[in-house]
This record gives sequence, structure tokens and C-alpha cells, in this order.
Amino acid sequence: MSQPKTARATLPQATISRAKDSLAKVPLPKAIQNRQDRWELYSRLARRVGSTVGGPVERRIERHLLQRSWVNAKPAMLKNYLVTSYQDPVINVQSILARHHFIGEVTGDEHRALMAEELDWAVEKNRALRKRQQELPEEYGMSFAELKRKGKWREAFAQIVDDHDVYATKWTEALHGADGPRVSIIEAACGSANDYRAFDGYGIAPLVDYTGIDLTEANIANARSMFPEADFRVGDVQDIDAEDGSYDWAVAHDLLEHLSPSAFNRAIDELSRVSRRGVLISFFLMRDEPEHRIQPRRYYHVNDLSKDRIEERFARYCSDIQWTQIRPWLKETHDFGDYYNWRAWTMIAKH
Ligand SMILES: C[S@@+](CC[C@H](N)C(=O)[O-])C[C@H]1O[C@@H](n2cnc3c(N)ncnc32)[C@H](O)[C@@H]1O
Repeated sequence: MSQPKTARATLPQATISRAKDSLAKVPLPKAIQNRQDRWELYSRLARRVGSTVGGPVERRIERHLLQRSWVNAKPAMLKNYLVTSYQDPVINVQSILARHHFIGEVTGDEHRALMAEELDWAVEKNRALRKRQQELPEEYGMSFAELKRKGKWREAFAQIVDDHDVYATKWTEALHGADGPRVSIIEAACGSANDYRAFDGYGIAPLVDYTGIDLTEANIANARSMFPEADFRVGDVQDIDAEDGSYDWAVAHDLLEHLSPSAFNRAIDELSRVSRRGVLISFFLMRDEPEHRIQPRRYYHVNDLSKDRIEERFARYCSDIQWTQIRPWLKETHDFGDYYNWRAWTMIAKH
């Protein structure tokens, strides 16, 4: 009779589990760390050492690669990353929807009129910026990328959004003394407090118990230096360090697209596990198509996610899942069909 070919076939299950556990903890071998190949190599390697899809070894490798993709980013760059231009949370419609959701959680319908007013204002700013973006290249005889490099876009933004902090003041006044029940929130991939800045500046921070986690240490150092009183921690959405149902809400903006399929499914499981009321996600690359388009890069992914597949995963935990595709929604509500990102969707999934 032929002998079993692999050690796995002969070892007791408990031994295999212990080996996998310790593999997940040891530093990755240099040969793996230094490989510049695509993500699939690591994934294949994880299978070779016996990891199941999304198992501890695969998670460890994915964490290492994600950390590595950000490790050379300068703290000063991270501080400004994804918080300028259309992504400035002051005018970014997905950031505004998230803020309105949490304000509504604390104050109910009390501030609906101010929410509508702020959204109208932000849409007009987006409309004016889109128009200016089309005019500038002809005016200066340069590509838009070059104009950005020369700071012309920053000037145009400052001219158009010349009342940048108007709603910070209005909301701080409106929310002062609000006494609804506090809401606890965990935000995964909080960056350098990218969205928390507006929580702080708009008077939302005193109404919520907020925790922000991010895999990149420099982001957490930036966030802590800006907001020493807030709770920012280094953490991985694949393994959130919290008991089941520790928070009312879990949130993530622009994260799941960058993870492998097993990691984004695991992230959905984790965000659902640690939240009691629900999960709010901003997607930046989503399509209303039946399947994901998985697109590995060297260390991470830039996937086009399928709304149906994501909904299917959330439906394991959540019964009420609402979607807003930002561009067509603004076309319908504000006759503005030119929002900068047509693949931006916001999902609110309630348990
Ligand atoms: C595209 S940025 C989004 C940042 C912020 N949420 C925003 O929308 O401006 C992705 C962020 O995810 C973080 N990240 C990547 N993988 C992560 C993981 N597994 N767990 C937690 N954060 C992660 C990165 O450090 C980075 O800050």
C-alpha cells in the first residue's frame, strides 16, 4: 500500500491546529518578506503551509503585505491623504451621509432640515468643482494632472469652497447640549483620523464613544497627535480586538476594495460580529453586477466589488440592508448627475 504523501494526512488534527497557530505568530521568513511578486504567490504559499482560506496563516500574510504597502508612506503625506479635493470630508457626500446617519442615531429626526441644507450646500460645491475641473485645462493649456501638481487645483478649490467651515459652526451650535443616548462606533481603516476630523470639528465627537483602528502605525500616530483624547489603535479589520457586540455601529470607508476576497469576507464577518445595531460602509469601487472583479496588485488589491455578492455576505448577519449609489441618487434628488465617482456606493446594514 502506498504511504500518505503529506504530513497533514498522518498528523492528528490537534497537532495540525497547533502548528498553524504557531505559524501564524512567527515572523515571516525573509524569502517571503522580500519577494516582490504578486499577491497570489503568498496566497499559494499560505495554502502550501496548510492554511485554510482566510485562516490564521493567510491572514498573517495578508496583514504583512498590507502593512508593507503603506510602510514607506511619510506621516505628512498620510495626514493629507484622501482628505483634500472631492475627498475632503467637508464636501464628500459619502462622509456627509455617514455623519448624518450618526447624528440621526443620537438625535432622531430633530436635525433633518439642517442635514438637507448641508447636503444641498455640498452638492453645489461638488457641481462647481466639476465645472471648474473641465474649464481649467483649456484656460492654462495644461493637463489636469499638471495643474494639480502646480497647485492650481488647490487654489480653485479654495476659491469655490471659500466657506469651508460653515457647517462645522452650524452643527457645533445645533448639537451643543444634545442629550440623546450616546452611540458607540468602531471605525476600521480610520487613516489619519480622516473622517473623525469632522466628528471633532462638527460637535459630533461628544455624542459618541468612538474607536478608530488602522493597520498603519504612522496613521495612528498622526491621529493620536491630532486628537489625543480620542481612542485610536493599531488594528487589523481581519481580527478586531473586541468582544462580540462591543459597539453599536461598525464603519469603514474605502477599505474592502483593497483586500483579497477571503480578507474582505472576513472583514464583513468581523465588522458584523463586533457591532450590535449595524454596519455602515462607503465603497469607492462598486458595480451593480453579479460577480466581483478581483484585481490583485503587488501587495494588495484594487477590486471592483459586486453589490449583490457583498449584500449576500452581509445578509448572513443583517436583515435590513440599504444602498445608495451616490451619482444617480444625486441626479434624482439634486439634478446633479456628475458626482466625481460613479462607482461610489454607501451601504447601511442593520442587524
Ligand atoms: C484607502 S485608505 C482609506 C482611509 C480612510 N478610511 C478614508 O476613507 O479616507 C485605506 C486605509 O486602510 C488601512 N488598512 C489597510 N488594510 C487594513 C486592515 N486590514 N485593517 C485595518 N486597516 C487597514 C490603511 O492603513 C489605510 O489607512
